[in-house]
Amino acid sequence: MTTLPSPSIVVDRTRLLENIRDMQAACTAHRVELRPHIKTHKMVAVAREQLAAGAKGLTCAKIGEAEAMLPSGVRSLFIAHSLVDLRQAPRLAALSERLDDLRVAVTSELHFEALENLARHVGRRLAVMMAVDTGLGREGVRDDASAARLERRSTGNPHLELRGFYTHEGYFYGLNPEEHHTRIASMLDRLCNLRDQIDPALALWPGCSVSAKRVAATSDGRIQAVRPGAYPFGDLALSRGSRVMSAAAQALHVLATVVDKPEPGLALIDAGSKTFSSDRTPDGIHAMPADGRDFAVVRLNEEHGYVRGPATDSLTIGERILLVPAHVCTVINLTDTVAVTEAGKVITTWTVEGRGKTQ
Ligand SMILES: Cc1ncc(COP(=O)(O)O)c(C=O)c1O
Repeated sequence: MTTLPSPSIVVDRTRLLENIRDMQAACTAHRVELRPHIKTHKMVAVAREQLAAGAKGLTCAKIGEAEAMLPSGVRSLFIAHSLVDLRQAPRLAALSERLDDLRVAVTSELHFEALENLARHVGRRLAVMMAVDTGLGREGVRDDASAARLERRSTGNPHLELRGFYTHEGYFYGLNPEEHHTRIASMLDRLCNLRDQIDPALALWPGCSVSAKRVAATSDGRIQAVRPGAYPFGDLALSRGSRVMSAAAQALHVLATVVDKPEPGLALIDAGSKTFSSDRTPDGIHAMPADGRDFAVVRLNEEHGYVRGPATDSLTIGERILLVPAHVCTVINLTDTVAVTEAGKVITTWTVEGRGKTQ
């Protein structure tokens, strides 16, 4: 690792594979399909590992991400976003040609009309998953009546075919971990009631790294898939905030260098918001050291990180530190490549093929 330029994004391959296997085992044990969201890693190499471990398919946010993941050999893909742009119709048609199963999201009654029009331009019937808002307040039907109306509109529709429901329970990141169990139970009851009233044969696909293992373990055959994203790498949101991942399982770190100590109690590193993004934990932390020392990156400029905390003065200029970012998905989207290590040694470099694929 001493040969790497700073800052670098470093992936511990052993830990990554363990995290992938661990989530897959939790799903397989409860006969729940794993359809990981690739927004976190955006890398064909990681998608290949997820599929090889047993993932049934992949989830993407954008068509560009889906296109970037095709070399992984994926055959089943869900684009979990409100697609509306008619200019994307040829790309959707081409994607669907290259897959066994392409699904897109219908996210409200108003969105249904836009999606139906898009499907008309694609020239083939699109399989759709209906978004249900279970608490995030973003996309998704807000009540059962709206879901039932959407289902009626899709029955016999020549352009759209309803296959099931999905939710992204991202609000779990803000919950007290003690609440996870009861909130998962109530979310599953709500989703199952909704589905069973409409058509018990439709699939239910919740998806979030905080809840995925517990959702799988408690679903008792009621849900068909989970779509977590961040679990292969982990970040402070999963370890420190939600406490569903140990520090020892963190597979991605930012390698940064201390470049100055302008005053007592403050060290500056060579990684700022252009490396970490501006995301931070609810208590204002952008990153923490992997080795547990008592300091944190508490402020960022574009190319500077401000390190403060009791152990800051023990840092030396030129010292290289491994940091766990607050939110890993936005870190990956800022880098072209990652350095892959095994037992602390760099073994290869992976390209982030889906980087910046926001269209
Ligand atoms: C629609 C959707 N599904 C799944 C995920 C994965 O969630 P997580 O990163 O918590 O695993 C996200 C994350 O933002 C999402 O937006």
